[in-house]
Amino acid sequence: MHVQVMDHPLIQHKVTLMRKKETGSKDFRNLLEEITMLMGYEITRDLPLEDVEIETPVAKMIGKQISGKKLGIVPVLRAGLGMVQGMLNLIPTAKVGHIGLYRDPQTLEPVEYYCKLPDVEDRDFIIVDPMLATGGSASAAITLLKEKGIENIKLMCLVAAPQGVQKVNADHPDVRIYVAALDDKLNDQGYIVPGLGDAGDRIFGTK
Ligand code: PRP
Ligand code: URA
Repeated sequence: MHVQVMDHPLIQHKVTLMRKKETGSKDFRNLLEEITMLMGYEITRDLPLEDVEIETPVAKMIGKQISGKKLGIVPVLRAGLGMVQGMLNLIPTAKVGHIGLYRDPQTLEPVEYYCKLPDVEDRDFIIVDPMLATGGSASAAITLLKEKGIENIKLMCLVAAPQGVQKVNADHPDVRIYVAALDDKLNDQGYIVPGLGDAGDRIFGTK
């Protein structure tokens, strides 16, 4: 199983707060944004840099700036929306695409209902979705991006089940997966155990 678990103490602490059933939508959203920033900081560690000549009030110097391809952030609707602002706080110039997928409650298969992506030329993409359960939604989202010609894709989730990681590994071995927590299993309804419940409902206060 290929997955990077980002278990910084701050991330672990905040994930525990999110899991608690008594945590309300406002705190849940704030925590998700904070964790996204902490994870995004690590995920962007390999961004290439180039030298740039600048002038401080005191002297000229060679500084560093990010070079290479631009970034695209793609939340999987709805719950992925909760991770967009955290990424934009770090990379304000990133463009944001949207992929609408919901899980059919009976079959657990992903159903696509929306896809709007920015210019894909010369852009690397990070797909964000808090939950990686069966892996059906993430795998379908990656396939959609690949069909548009996008090659360099990372997947960033909050909580994953082993089954979801295995499915994405099998369908898309080139895609690196980053999670804050790798949980035990799925229950009969396809929910991650222990998980944190329905992420979309908890973010938006629906039922
Ligand atoms: C959730 C979650 C993922 C998907 C994960 O979305 O945000 O997209 O389930 O499950 P999977 O790995 O088994 O595909 P959901 O279908 O509940 O839609 P929502 O975000 O609109 O609530
Ligand atoms: N989607 C969720 O929101 N939670 C789960 O546990 C599984 C899929």
